[in-house]
Amino acid sequence: MKTTTILSTLFLSTLVLAAPLSTVANRQAQNLQTFTGALGGIAATPIEDSGNPDRQFSVKGDTFVNLSAALQRSCDQQFNACANAANAGTGNFTVADCSAQQNACGAAN
Ligand SMILES: *[C@@H]1O[C@H](CO)[C@@H](O)[C@H](O)[C@H]1NC(C)=O
Ligand SMILES: *[C@@H]1O[C@H](CO)[C@@H](O)[C@H](O)[C@H]1NC(C)=O
Repeated sequence: MKTTTILSTLFLSTLVLAAPLSTVANRQAQNLQTFTGALGGIAATPIEDSGNPDRQFSVKGDTFVNLSAALQRSCDQQFNACANAANAGTGNFTVADCSAQQNACGAAN
C-alpha cells in the first residue's frame, strides 16, 4: 500500500518534470539563430518559422522572405538592446563591445 503510493507519486513527478523540459527543447530546435553570444544576458532575438510560406522567417513578429534578412534583424535587435543597456549603465560593457558582438553575430551566420 505504502509502496504503491510512493511509486505513483514518483511517476507523477516525473511526468510533471518531463513536460516543460520537452517544451523547451522544441522551442530551441525551432530557433534558426545560432549565435550564442549574449552580453548582459541579452541573446540575439530567436528566429522562428512564421507558418507563412511566403514570409517564412519570423523575428519578434516581423516576417522575412529569406533567412539572411531575418538573421540580420535578429543581430540588429540584439545590438539595440545591448547598446541601450550599455548606455543605461546596467551592463558591464560598452556600446563598442555591443558593436563587436553584432559583428560576431553577423559572422556566425
Ligand atoms: C533577402 O531578402 C531581402 C529583402 O527582404 C533582399 O534584399 C535580399 O537580397 C534577399 N537575399 C537573398 C540571399 O535572397
Ligand atoms: C566587470 O568587468 C570587469 C573587467 O572586465 C571585471 O573585472 C568585473 O568582474 C566585471 N563585473 C561584473 C559584475 O561582471
